[in-house]
Amino acid sequence: MKIGIACDHGAVEYKQEVIAMLVNEGYEVIDCGCDGTKSVDYPDYGYRCAKLVQQGEVDKGIVMCGTGIGISISANKVKGIRCGLCFNTTMARLTREHNDANMLAVGQRTTGIEVVKDIVNTFLNTPFSEEERHVKRIEKITEIETEEESVL
Ligand code: RB5
Repeated sequence: MKIGIACDHGAVEYKQEVIAMLVNEGYEVIDCGCDGTKSVDYPDYGYRCAKLVQQGEVDKGIVMCGTGIGISISANKVKGIRCGLCFNTTMARLTREHNDANMLAVGQRTTGIEVVKDIVNTFLNTPFSEEERHVKRIEKITEIETEEESVL
């Protein structure tokens, strides 16, 4: 499985730790930056990773910032992206089972690194439930995207 990963300056350490874990687990990882602690803008990196997911160049995307909030909002602006911000493994499981999330967001200032690693593994190993009610709701999200596009 191929994974895209991105962060802002507030989550570089976690990104490096998660990349090392994923490579060790046999995943192919595409790192979309950023690389240092110099202040950057999270939308640039969230967008870059989301486009890889949207274009099918990676199977899933993982984004990180101080809280995970700004970078998840940015990723969710890209058509076809369902990015779930998770603080624990229950959220990670449910965002796959119920929302068929194709991206995960976590925060370096809000969640411990061991919990983040468990969240990432849960997210990557949990399939979508395929239950009719969840499929219908995801279709509604897609309809909203299409409707909003036609308004512009
Ligand atoms: C950057 O200072 C910080 O705002 C960012 O990492 C994130 O927490 C935003 O949601």
